[in-house]
Amino acid sequence: MKIFEKVADVREFVTNAKRQGKVIGFVPTMGALHEGHLTLMREAKKQCDVVIVSIFVNPTQFGPNEDYAAYPRTWQQDLELCQSVGVDAVLHPDKDEMYPEDWGTWVEVEGLTGVLCGRSRPTHFRGVTTVVTKLFNIVQPDKAFFGQKDAQQVVVLMKMVRDLNMPLEIVVVPIVRDEDGLAKSSRNGYLTAEQRKAALVLRRALNRADVLARQGESNVDFIQSAVRACIELEPLADIDYVEAYTFPGLQPVTELQQKVLIAVAAKFGTTRLIDNIIIEPAGR
Ligand code: PAF
Repeated sequence: MKIFEKVADVREFVTNAKRQGKVIGFVPTMGALHEGHLTLMREAKKQCDVVIVSIFVNPTQFGPNEDYAAYPRTWQQDLELCQSVGVDAVLHPDKDEMYPEDWGTWVEVEGLTGVLCGRSRPTHFRGVTTVVTKLFNIVQPDKAFFGQKDAQQVVVLMKMVRDLNMPLEIVVVPIVRDEDGLAKSSRNGYLTAEQRKAALVLRRALNRADVLARQGESNVDFIQSAVRACIELEPLADIDYVEAYTFPGLQPVTELQQKVLIAVAAKFGTTRLIDNIIIEPAGR
């Protein structure tokens, strides 16, 4: 497995692979890899000839009071995990390689970033779309793999790729959960045992939405309130949002007549977790 720290070096690797007609798969990450990331890499291996993973904790997507400095960095373990699933190359640039001192260009998607996580993290998606654009330009993948857990990120990136005519396909991979139902996240490691147990309420609440939809409930406000009520029963959960939007349009919705994203974010102690489910009208 090759390890690149410089943009020019990974570019040369990609140019050679493309010359041989190889399909390039790309999995951008911020490290602290877990089963969720490995699932993306395995899917990339299945669909592509060469798989490149980036590991870069992107400063521009963290707000001033967020956990950039404390974000888990587990480089050695990450490398072993990448190797274990047959990744071909890891790109691990430092901050100056990605953001030289005189850097000053942003990529911003309008219309989808003011809701859900964008409301409490107003500069987050601008940071994500900017770094992902840079990474796409560096790696020039044919396919890039993202997890459904970050549903809003996926929708925003798909719009960016479409709006800017980026020549690649975004592949979305379903949420990977622990056996008890907690969605895999690099932030789960911050939770105490008690908070971790409490966090299972997110999955329980989202399952409630699914059950209601399957039973024929079509009033989205009612479903959303049921999800909120379920989370409110957990004293350790501090709700940031429980919201419902059309998927993938992220438009307000009152009747369950098409796919609807129910997304939740809550803090357990200082750790903010997100989770979601896509529900459909009964019988579909
Ligand atoms: O999902 C993530 O880990 C990050 O937002 C991403 C896509 C790697 C950009 O930094």
